[in-house]
Amino acid sequence: MSTQTAPGSPLPVIIDTDPGIDDMLALLLALASPELDIRGISVSYGNTVVENAFRNAVAILRRAGRRTTLAVGARRPLKRPLAVARETHGESGLGYAELAPAGVILDFVKSLDRLLAEQPDPVTLVTLGPVTSLALALRSDPELVRAKVARHIAMIGNVGAKGNTTRYAEFNAWCDPEALDIVLRAELPTEMVGLDVTRQMVLAPHETTRLQHAGAPQARWINDALRFYFEFHKQQEGLDGCIVNDVLPIAALVRPAALGFEEQRLVVDLEEGEHRGHTRIDPHGPRVKVATRVDLALVRPLLSERVFRWAVHQTATPIVSQEAGV
Ligand code: RIB
Ligand code: CA
Repeated sequence: MSTQTAPGSPLPVIIDTDPGIDDMLALLLALASPELDIRGISVSYGNTVVENAFRNAVAILRRAGRRTTLAVGARRPLKRPLAVARETHGESGLGYAELAPAGVILDFVKSLDRLLAEQPDPVTLVTLGPVTSLALALRSDPELVRAKVARHIAMIGNVGAKGNTTRYAEFNAWCDPEALDIVLRAELPTEMVGLDVTRQMVLAPHETTRLQHAGAPQARWINDALRFYFEFHKQQEGLDGCIVNDVLPIAALVRPAALGFEEQRLVVDLEEGEHRGHTRIDPHGPRVKVATRVDLALVRPLLSERVFRWAVHQTATPIVSQEAGV
């Protein structure tokens, strides 16, 4: 199925995300990119509980001054116990950023499959968290998913790179390996943007200095989220910077040359222990395109100009009561 849109027309995109500090940067970049037509955002558990993810997505949309359809995907993994990344993204999911209290999510909110169903034409689906929402959609209506997902680009997994949750597994894959197994076996046009390339996407402290010294509310808010993330990477990996994994799939939609892919046959380990969620090459596994090369020179200016520079010049304070198109 072609993912090509008419020359010059924005690419229709749906993002399933677990905001999440690096998700926040990815969402702000997506919302600031005229090349993309964000048809909706579906929130999932992962970095934080789904109630916080929903609240965080609303806060990000309000601060970006944008409205789009917000859907609620998975609240917990298919079969594994729910485990969120408080130590990495903070209790709220957005570090030290100021946020309204999270509400209760009502049962009849729109799910990812309903969001897909209402699309008039096929979209590019970006998943930035565990792929439980997509697995649930595939379980309930695989033909709908095939008809409406022209391309699936996922921040998930690792092949040659060390894991970040166990030494073998990346967090999104580790959260729900059964869901990833369902997605891989569905053989959608999936592109895996894993730690092999995202570990190189390190944001250095000097790149956010202007956020720290800006008076603009959005700059301070983003900086408060990032401060927590910098502290975590320093403590956890002795890194003087932070890895903003989720920015890469969005940047690749805007600058396709930013990533290079190779087709692999991959499986995901489903057993317990250190190999849980380990994505590895297997000659009998389903086919998936794996990102093996990244050109950061195409990515950094996008973040710098479309997110940080934008934030520093934003003097308007968000309208607190405005919902974000929910
Ligand atoms: O392993 C990194 C991934 O897990 C990123 O998407 C991060 O936001 C977390 O969801
Ligand atoms: Ca994420």
